[in-house]
Amino acid sequence: MNILILGSGGREHTFAYKIAQSDLCSKLFVAPGNAGTATIATNIALSVNDFEAIKALVIKESITMVVVGPEDPLVNGIANFFADDAQLSHITVIGPSKRGALLEGSKERAKEFMSMHHIPTAAYQSFTVESVEAGKLFLETLKAPYVLKADGLAAGKGVLILQDIQEAKTELDNMLTNKKFGAASEKVVIEEFLDGIELSVFVLTDGKNYVTLPTAKDYKRIGEGDTGLNTGGMGAISPVPFADDEFMTKIEEQIIKPTVNGLAKENIDYKGFIFIGLIKVGDEPKVIEYNVRMGDPETEAVLPRVKTDIVKLFQHVGDQTLDKIDLEIDSRSAATIMTVSGGYPEAYEKGKEITGIDNVSDAIVFHAGTKLDGDKVVTNGGRVIAVTSFDDNFREALKKSYQNIEKLHFDKMYYRKDLGFDLAP
Ligand code: AMP
Ligand code: GLY
Repeated sequence: MNILILGSGGREHTFAYKIAQSDLCSKLFVAPGNAGTATIATNIALSVNDFEAIKALVIKESITMVVVGPEDPLVNGIANFFADDAQLSHITVIGPSKRGALLEGSKERAKEFMSMHHIPTAAYQSFTVESVEAGKLFLETLKAPYVLKADGLAAGKGVLILQDIQEAKTELDNMLTNKKFGAASEKVVIEEFLDGIELSVFVLTDGKNYVTLPTAKDYKRIGEGDTGLNTGGMGAISPVPFADDEFMTKIEEQIIKPTVNGLAKENIDYKGFIFIGLIKVGDEPKVIEYNVRMGDPETEAVLPRVKTDIVKLFQHVGDQTLDKIDLEIDSRSAATIMTVSGGYPEAYEKGKEITGIDNVSDAIVFHAGTKLDGDKVVTNGGRVIAVTSFDDNFREALKKSYQNIEKLHFDKMYYRKDLGFDLAP
């Protein structure tokens, strides 16, 4: 079958890498893709939110499966666009309907969903410009640090964690009254701060059944020791060493099952990934957020560990028969390190030549913000290229990835050298 992947990051290169290995895939397209996807698929220059252009491509190339990478087209309703169009409704779309995507598109909706289905999460209340004074009073009932979340999508920047109550009140005003994040902060969720270590769990569901993919831990801050600004993610390891069987059973019983059952109870069409961001508080898992797609760079560490044919898995999602397939996972650990452009996540330059890619050995290179410039590969984004290695444990896997990353070069290349610093031993 012919398959289309939407998106252009390391996540999408990883999907392409796995899908290209499947005998079930004939022609593979990535839109818009990057210099990495260009080596294993056909890149098509179109916007992931231009549904009419996507429709024209799908019809022209007889594509029967579409894998949606980023959240934007999902929140904009791409799955509904396909389901409601007589020419497209037979196509398998990996990604939830608009109502499903609201779990990521609205923090308030996610909190209501968790509360309705008794899923453990931080206590919260939400506020609008009309209730900004009530919001300030609510802040006074909480202890520092204060967590303020813009309700809508804010490109990963919508969460503020503040130590000082006055600053929290000022930021609440900024978000609600001055629309700091535009329409995304017309509502703000204020929630209890959860103190613990983070991990992510990935679920693939057909709306009735599900499989749990390997866990991962990502490193979001730009600076070593988890300092500085938030980024899209500076690296990831899988599995998470502290997510033992007992803890995973808690996650499955208290979080995964109620989430999948909750979606079904609410008649939400959901065929795709659920990325559950968790904090381990004491010995208990609590949900910080849902994303309705895979994580990036978590995908680069998680998917290479999945041995089951990914296209077959997706076919079972389309047919709602995920209960009929066994997931085979590589027991080794994977470690992904992301290189970024100097200056990222603030201003950075593009168009720098990347060299050394061919020297990488015993590791996989996943392109993120790259493009071809003639026969050169050049930087084209903040997060540029990731390297994933396997070994018996995450420390050894990290070592291999670091050895390989030193073979890569571009002007002002930066990466964190301390991944795994927060994990024992
Ligand atoms: P989110 O965009 O919801 O993933 O939030 C961004 C980051 O803020 C998370 O990865 C956590 O590190 C942190 N965070 C969000 N909510 C909380 C909370 N209630 N308590 C502690 N940290 C939080
Ligand atoms: N790495 C975090 C994310 O994909 O949202």
